[in-house]
Amino acid sequence: MRVSLFMKSPANKTKTAIPPSLKKFIQALPKTETHLHVEGALPYELLRKWKPKEYPANPAFHAPRHRIREFERFDKILLGHALPWFTNADRYYEGAKAIFAKHTAQNVHYVETSFHLAATTFLKIPPREIAAAILAAAPRGLEVRVFVGMLRNDYHGDMRAVIDGIAGCDNITGVDLHGLETLPTEPWTARVWKRMRAAGKITKAHAGEFDGAARVREAIVKLGVTRIQHGARAIEDPDVVKLAVDRGVTFDMCPISNVRLGVVPSIRRHPIRAYMRAGIRCTVSTDDPLVFNNTLTDEYAALAAGAKFTPAELARLARNGFEVASLCDAHKQHFLDQIDALAALAAKAPKAK
Ligand code: ADE
Ligand code: ZN
Repeated sequence: MRVSLFMKSPANKTKTAIPPSLKKFIQALPKTETHLHVEGALPYELLRKWKPKEYPANPAFHAPRHRIREFERFDKILLGHALPWFTNADRYYEGAKAIFAKHTAQNVHYVETSFHLAATTFLKIPPREIAAAILAAAPRGLEVRVFVGMLRNDYHGDMRAVIDGIAGCDNITGVDLHGLETLPTEPWTARVWKRMRAAGKITKAHAGEFDGAARVREAIVKLGVTRIQHGARAIEDPDVVKLAVDRGVTFDMCPISNVRLGVVPSIRRHPIRAYMRAGIRCTVSTDDPLVFNNTLTDEYAALAAGAKFTPAELARLARNGFEVASLCDAHKQHFLDQIDALAALAAKAPKAK
C-alpha cells in the first residue's frame, strides 16, 4: 500500500508534507512558547461560540496564502477581534484558559505570554490583576510567566506611573516592547529597561521584524536586552548577527508569523537555521494565532516541511526554550533529559522516506 507523506491537517491549513513519524516526534517533544501575545492568542473558535453571527467561519485572514504586509492592517485585524472580548479580568481568565488548554494538548510545558499594558488604563484594571487572572488560568503541568507589552510611545500621561509600577509587581516576570517598530525608541526606554532588570525582571524587545538589523543592534546595545522578539532581519547585517552571538542573545522567533506578515518570503528562506548555525540561540513560538490560525506544532512541522529541519534541529529548538525558561534547574533538566532521549531515539531510527 502506498502511504502518502502528506498529512492532511485540519481545515483551512496547508497540507504539511512531513512523515507521520516526524509528526509524532514533534508532538512528543516537551515544548515551550516564549513569544505569545495573549490578546493575539485568543482562540477564534471562542469568538465564534460567543457571537457566531459576527465571526464567520474561515475568515479571509486565516487563509494560509493570505499576506498582511502592513503592520497597521495586521494590528487592526488583531485588535478588532481581541478588544471586544478582553473587557475585564474574567475575560482574561477565560481567554487564557482556552489558550492554555491548547498548549497542554500539544505537550507544551512552559509559556511566556504578554498582555497589552495599555489595556490596564482603558479598562481601569491594575496590571497585577490582569496578570493574576492569566496566571490563575494555568492548568497543572503548564508553567506560565506573564510579561507586559508596551508601545514605543507609551510612556506618557497615566501610563508613566503604570509602567514605573511594573517593577514592583511580583506576578509580572518581565517587559516587552512591541507594536509599530518603525517608531523611534524613545530615551525613556533604556532607563526603564535598566530599572526593570535591577528589579529582577526579564527585558525583551520586538526588533528586526518590520524594521531592519539596526533595530536589533539598538535593542541589544541601547536597551541591553538578551531576548529579541523575532530578529528575522538581523540577517541583513552580519555584524549584528555576530553581536547577538557575542552577547549570548536569544531570538524568540515566529516563522509562520514572519511569512504571513511578509517579513520573509517563505519558510525555506527563513534565517532561523543560519542563526542557529552562527550560534544564536533560537526558540519558536506562534506570536498571534488569532490572526495566523497557527499552532506551535504547526511551527515545528512548517520548519520540517519547508526548511527540512531534522529531528535533531527540532529538538534543539525545544531545548533552547527550556534553557531560557524562568524555571529552577531541576525542572529544566527534567525536560531537557526528555528531549535528549527523544532526539537520541530519532537519530537511531531508520530515515522516513
Ligand atoms: N503585537 C502583536 N504581534 C506583534 C508583532 N508580530 N509585532 C509587533 N507587535 C506585535
Ligand atoms: Zn510578537
